[in-house]
Formats: sequence, structure tokens, C-alpha cells
Amino acid sequence: MKKTFLFKQAKISYTDKGKGNTIVFLHGFPESKEIWKELSLKLSRKFRIITMDLPGHGSSDCIGYVHSMELMAECVKALLKKLRLRKVILVGHSMGGYVALAFAELFSDNLKGLCLFHSTALADSEEKKKERDRAVAAVKKNHKSFVRQIVKKLFTPVNLKKLKLKVQLLQRIAEETPKQGIIAGLEGMKERRNREVVLKFAPYPVLFIAGKKDPIIPLESIKEQANLPEYSELLILKQSAHAGFYEQPLETFEAIRGFSVSAFKKS
Ligand code: MLT
Repeated sequence: MKKTFLFKQAKISYTDKGKGNTIVFLHGFPESKEIWKELSLKLSRKFRIITMDLPGHGSSDCIGYVHSMELMAECVKALLKKLRLRKVILVGHSMGGYVALAFAELFSDNLKGLCLFHSTALADSEEKKKERDRAVAAVKKNHKSFVRQIVKKLFTPVNLKKLKLKVQLLQRIAEETPKQGIIAGLEGMKERRNREVVLKFAPYPVLFIAGKKDPIIPLESIKEQANLPEYSELLILKQSAHAGFYEQPLETFEAIRGFSVSAFKKS
């Protein structure tokens, strides 16, 4: 069931299903909690599953003009506080992973495990920052055509044809993201810090899920980051670009389930 709560006077939408140890899912940019629908339904047979729309996405309101990763991490923390949840596993897709890392830096006591799903602890390069500025200008002109281009990069060329319904679904979600939410997300990602140190000193296990054909988060850099934490696992999705939850749903489900079972067993 969809629920809401208030964070800094903004309405934030979330879902809460199942019982037991809790996994919280954070979507990427410009997505919504809908991307986790099938996966969360399957996992909710064994875990309590929370999904939420980050500020400026899905049914959640915007909070000003820059959604920093720290601001969004505080929003996640506010939800945990409201639900009286102390220890959870955070799974973040891409931008959701940047938010999960900011959360880990601020509230590491609340974590039993962290999953970076097509995500990275690196900050934007100077070139990437310039690209974000160009993206903001393009969004101001025509945000629908901008998001259509983004969604095409999320799938491999084969999957773009094979998974037409999923492509259309992501297209719809992206097109429904308000202009202010898109710009605030781009600005927030542009100013985010490098958080490799969070991985290096992580007292909890970290699962990396990488797409072999991901044009946004290069696999080689994830392989290096997977060496940083004391306990880490790396799943390489060979047939995926940036949307493994749709491109290889079974492998994704099994990896997150197995990782979560063992992370919750660790004292
Ligand atoms: C995402 O999927 O969340 C974004 O593509 C991440 C990014 O642009 O860095």
C-alpha cells in the first residue's frame, strides 16, 4: 500500500510490505519506486521491504532547487525514524546508490549492509560536470525529449527491442518526473563528493551489482571499488547495461536475497 509522510514540509511517498528484517530500496534518476515493483514483491515473502520516491521523483514533492545526496539521505533517515527502524540494508540504483553512500557516511549505525546497484562512490569528473550543465540547459528547453534520450541508455541495444514494455514504463516514469525534480537531481549529483572512504571503512558487507555493458557506470571502475570494503561481493550482469533489475531480474533477485540473508546473520 502507498503511504506518505512529511519531510521538511514536502510530501514523500513510500511503500511498506512484508515482515522481518528490512531492506530499503532507492531508485535512480529520473526514476521512481515503481522500478522495484516485481523485485520487492518477491523479496517481501522473506523480508520487510520499503521503497520510496526520493524528493522530486515519482509522487514525492521537490524541496528547493538542489537535491543534494545528503538532503536525500536525511529524508531516508526521517522515514526510518518514523517507522522506528534501526538496522536496515540499503539498496541504491545509480543515483540511489549515491544517496545510500551519503546515508552510510552520516548514519552508518543504521546499516546492516549496502548494495550499490549500477552505482559508484566516485564523484563526477570535470567533463561529467560540464555534461550536467548542458543537461540542465536541455531540460529547461524540453525535459521530455531529454529524458527520452536518457532512458535509451539504460538498456543494451538487444534489450531495448526485447523489453519494449519495460522501456516504455521507464519512459513514462521519466516523463512524469517534474522539471524541477530533474534539475534538482542533476545539480545534486554534480556537487556530490567522492565517497570511496565510506567503502574502505565500511563495517558492514557491501554488494556491488554491475552491468557489463553499462555506458553510465563503467565496470572496470566498479571492479576496483569492490576491493575497498573488508567484506564485499561483486555480481557482474553480463547481459545488462544500466537496468539490471529489468534486464536480468532473476540474477538480481537471487543476489540481493542471498546477500541480505547473510548480512542479517552477521553480528
Ligand atoms: C542514474 O541512473 O541514477 C543516473 O544516470 C546516474 C548519473 O547520471 O550519474
